[in-house]
Amino acid sequence: MTAMRPLDGVYRQDAAAGYVARRARILGGEWTPPPIEGFASPRCNARDEDALARLLGVMLAADGLAAVTLGDPLESAALVRVAERLGRPVPERSPEVQAFVEHGVVLNLRPAFDETAEVERQPFATNFISLHTEGSMAPPDRRPALLLFQCRETDADASGGKTVVLSMADVVARLPFELAAILRRTGYRGRAASDPILAEIGGSFRLTFRDFMYTPLEWTCWASRPNVDATDVNHALRTLHEALYAAPLHHVPYTAGTLFVLDNRRFLHGRTRIMYPDSRRHLQRVRIAVPNAAVSA
Ligand SMILES: [Fe+2]
Repeated sequence: MTAMRPLDGVYRQDAAAGYVARRARILGGEWTPPPIEGFASPRCNARDEDALARLLGVMLAADGLAAVTLGDPLESAALVRVAERLGRPVPERSPEVQAFVEHGVVLNLRPAFDETAEVERQPFATNFISLHTEGSMAPPDRRPALLLFQCRETDADASGGKTVVLSMADVVARLPFELAAILRRTGYRGRAASDPILAEIGGSFRLTFRDFMYTPLEWTCWASRPNVDATDVNHALRTLHEALYAAPLHHVPYTAGTLFVLDNRRFLHGRTRIMYPDSRRHLQRVRIAVPNAAVSA
């Protein structure tokens, strides 16, 4: 038997696809998704960093999301210490973001630019950010398991700039079985067959994916042919995009002093457009690669 050669192809966004219009409506800023259901953000004593991290860990293990409210935001060094209690912070090495980095791992997310097509600048611009898992382009060992956010300052509710989250389970539930089967055999070009867009790990599904919008997505599929061809793979990818923008989306109701943690293995996220350039929105983000055992689901 000869070894099967993988199939290569490119997915390009069709401007007429239903999700393209829905994405603009959902993330464009005029509409705010509802807050996370049952969002509990208990008040917490910022001085007891062990207790703070333990509480976040318990919430994370249960729900994949966690939040606490502090009287005042933590100093950046204290934020790093809390992150270290949750796992191993990932250094921010990208040259484009260095002006926004503190302590090597804290990224300051503030709107510093107007709307831009440059992807590297978009976290610091007023653009909306399409739905994604963090680090989908990175090799598996550099993908964060957790994202820790701290809100230092926020705008009025109607101002856009909302962090939005959606559960992978809700997305996968919208995929027909045969298309999910294709996505389990499809990865970004250059990836191993063991690192697909949709993986089953420990009995639950995990997506590693970013909606690239206008940028073509080069893929490789290891499904057996002639059962599957490039049209089938592109159909599966389009259906995945449709599912992303059809699944229930919620925003994180930040106030200054909210610490929020998201399990990047259970939730996707994005950001609605910041509605005015003089926004005071200031979030800090620490990526955490290897969570401590207590915070793993
Ligand atoms: Fe992100």
